[in-house]
Amino acid sequence: MSAKNNVTMEKLTALCKRRGFIFPTCDIYGGFANSYSYGPYGTELKNNIKKLWWKKFVQDRPDMVGIDGPILLHPKLWEASGHTESFNDAMIDCKKCKKRFRADHLVEELTGQDMEGELEKINKTLKKLKAKCPECGASDWTAAKNFNMMFQTQMNGFEGSVYLRPETAGAIFVEFKNIVDSMRVKVPFGIAQIGKAFRNEIVAGNFIFRLREFEQMEIEYFIDPLVEWKDLFEQWLQLQEEFIMEVGADKKNLRRYEHPKAKLSHYSKKTIDIEYRYPFGFKELFGLAHRTDFDLTAHSKKSNQKLEYFDPVKNRRYTPHVLEPTFGLDRTILVALLSAYREEKLEKETRVFLDFPKKIAPVKAAIFPLLKNKKELVKKAKEVFDGLKEKFALEFDDHGNIGKRYRRQDEIGTPYCITIDFDSLKDNTVTIRERNSMKQERIKIKELNDYLNKGIAKG
Ligand code: GAP
Repeated sequence: MSAKNNVTMEKLTALCKRRGFIFPTCDIYGGFANSYSYGPYGTELKNNIKKLWWKKFVQDRPDMVGIDGPILLHPKLWEASGHTESFNDAMIDCKKCKKRFRADHLVEELTGQDMEGELEKINKTLKKLKAKCPECGASDWTAAKNFNMMFQTQMNGFEGSVYLRPETAGAIFVEFKNIVDSMRVKVPFGIAQIGKAFRNEIVAGNFIFRLREFEQMEIEYFIDPLVEWKDLFEQWLQLQEEFIMEVGADKKNLRRYEHPKAKLSHYSKKTIDIEYRYPFGFKELFGLAHRTDFDLTAHSKKSNQKLEYFDPVKNRRYTPHVLEPTFGLDRTILVALLSAYREEKLEKETRVFLDFPKKIAPVKAAIFPLLKNKKELVKKAKEVFDGLKEKFALEFDDHGNIGKRYRRQDEIGTPYCITIDFDSLKDNTVTIRERNSMKQERIKIKELNDYLNKGIAKG
């Protein structure tokens, strides 16, 4: 029987909780605002995805450098970037059940039209269509109004509000000068960052798709404004698609959506979203925007500092333009999990396993002594564990019968299970079982290292 994807959000969220990937946070207090904690395997998965991204986009490229900036940044930054003034979503409340909605999403569901940012049109349309509350069916709304999505807080020694950054990009632009002065970078070059961002979303939901606290992996790629950029733009899109396929997405579940000219953000010359077919429909996964010189110019004006680049070959000084490939980390994790989910009908049961590409699997191999109460087996299994732990993320498991241990590792997506039995004591061989095929082989302990290396490299 071949394994099928058959995934739903219900099945995935249940597996994530059952197997320690992702938990609804503060469960003991009844949950908290659609927030989630990454559990032990979720954390490993997240770290592996970050590592893969950092290697591909920073370490393997001579034209890229990486930074790690703060979450709390000078409020002037957000004034310059336009966030204080216009990082708004339209919200609306049902007067009867008091439930709050994104007003533009409500209109879009009714008319298919994207009215993001058009408050007046939204109010008129909702009235005209006598829109019903999706929660209680009433048709009694407050007027839609703008709501700034930045979280505000206070800081000792600083007057006025400061904000939790709503995107990582800001921390990159304010270090442009330091990078140019310290790193001998030559245009075109990029600055990358992975980190948390915070948005006071009106409605969070769809598991880890829309969160109020999430992580982004962003690149600001600085280019000469006089050089043709369209090919480079296309190359970045392809790299973004390549990356999501490296974590397991099927190309047929991806599509591109170009923002119509009239809807482009004030800074953008061109924006394309890479969308993924989630169980709840095609929605944004990543984005790529040509941000022109908007940010550097705005920060330069606000700070009275020159944010320019001098090209010694062309003997020209200029403000670079920017291409911005942005990747949501939590959405990447969601896509990795959705893509990996498999159900396979066996004779007596349905086996569930996660077919992760091996390099992102949270555990690469699980080590099982056949019996927990046989000291010599446990000792030998610990020796095998110690011999491999330097190079591979392992798990030692001696609970319950071997069949149950296999099922557990299948659901974690562990590519290999290694069992140490009584023959191992005599001839130094073990049984190694592969996740997808469930095929078992007998191999020598001293060959395990090479075996795992080769298997993991194959992907
Ligand atoms: N610097 C550009 C920027 O922040 P964005 O489209 O607003 O652009 C970039 O966000 C990416 O961050 C999105 O493509 C998405 O993957 C992720 N993202 C945005 N809001 C999110 C949220 N509330 N929860 C989870 N991920 C989110």
